[in-house]
Amino acid sequence: MTYDDHRGSFMSKGTQYKSRESDSNGIIHWSDEENQVWSELFDRQIKLIKNRACDQYHDGLDILQLSNDRIPQLPELNKKLKKTTGWQTAEVPALINFSEFFRLLANKQFPVATFIRTREEFDYLQEPDIFHEVFGHCPLLTNPAFAHFTHTYGKLGLNASKEDRVFLARLYWFTVEFGLVNTADGLRIYGGGILSSPGETIYALESATPVRKPLEPVDALRTPYRIDIMQPLYYILEQFDDLFTLSEMDLMALVQQAKTLGLFEPLFPPKEKKVSGQN
Ligand SMILES: [Fe+2]
Repeated sequence: MTYDDHRGSFMSKGTQYKSRESDSNGIIHWSDEENQVWSELFDRQIKLIKNRACDQYHDGLDILQLSNDRIPQLPELNKKLKKTTGWQTAEVPALINFSEFFRLLANKQFPVATFIRTREEFDYLQEPDIFHEVFGHCPLLTNPAFAHFTHTYGKLGLNASKEDRVFLARLYWFTVEFGLVNTADGLRIYGGGILSSPGETIYALESATPVRKPLEPVDALRTPYRIDIMQPLYYILEQFDDLFTLSEMDLMALVQQAKTLGLFEPLFPPKEKKVSGQN
């Protein structure tokens, strides 16, 4: 799920996609074409993430054993998640509002919009589809630090004001969606927005273009982002388990600090020159 900082709203643009609904057993009857799109996305991405995704993500892949020839069914993922961290997936429409998003996370339910991109948007789409949610995020939901952080984040967001939620969304963006982590083997990816995007998987680690900085939570809360471009800036965790430390911080006090200090200047150009300044 994605909050669009630049548009200042939660996926307000709308979407051409509609989620599929499961039958009474929780099974979704995907078409052959939809399964084929999954299979091609999976094959491409599984090769790219080798030596680029962090070990915790690979451990999660080993646990989940995602099918490569068809879209995984949520009940089969739920069984494995239940045994590891107690998380579950939740089948949701293509767009949900912020309150519903936080309510689900606060209940250890990870929202999964049950649609898959069309071939026209094979390489890039703004809406988080089931490939993004399942391939990008679900493996790390088996990890205690990641699971704890996401749960804590959901509980904070549920009780936060509308204005504070916009700040919290930035922290989520620069960790769960686009986070990098230092390891003994070098820089690795844990953000699901990167791990479900072939172009950004390479760019985030290997391009000289983006800025990469150690994660300072207040800085992340103050950093604007756009959802429709390769990120100009990534924040790096010193070690993966720092997600535990982050969960134990008084994040809402940091939100107040960030509000007082104000936002950083964006490192990206305005989306459309004509509407510059009309965020
Ligand atoms: Fe996501």
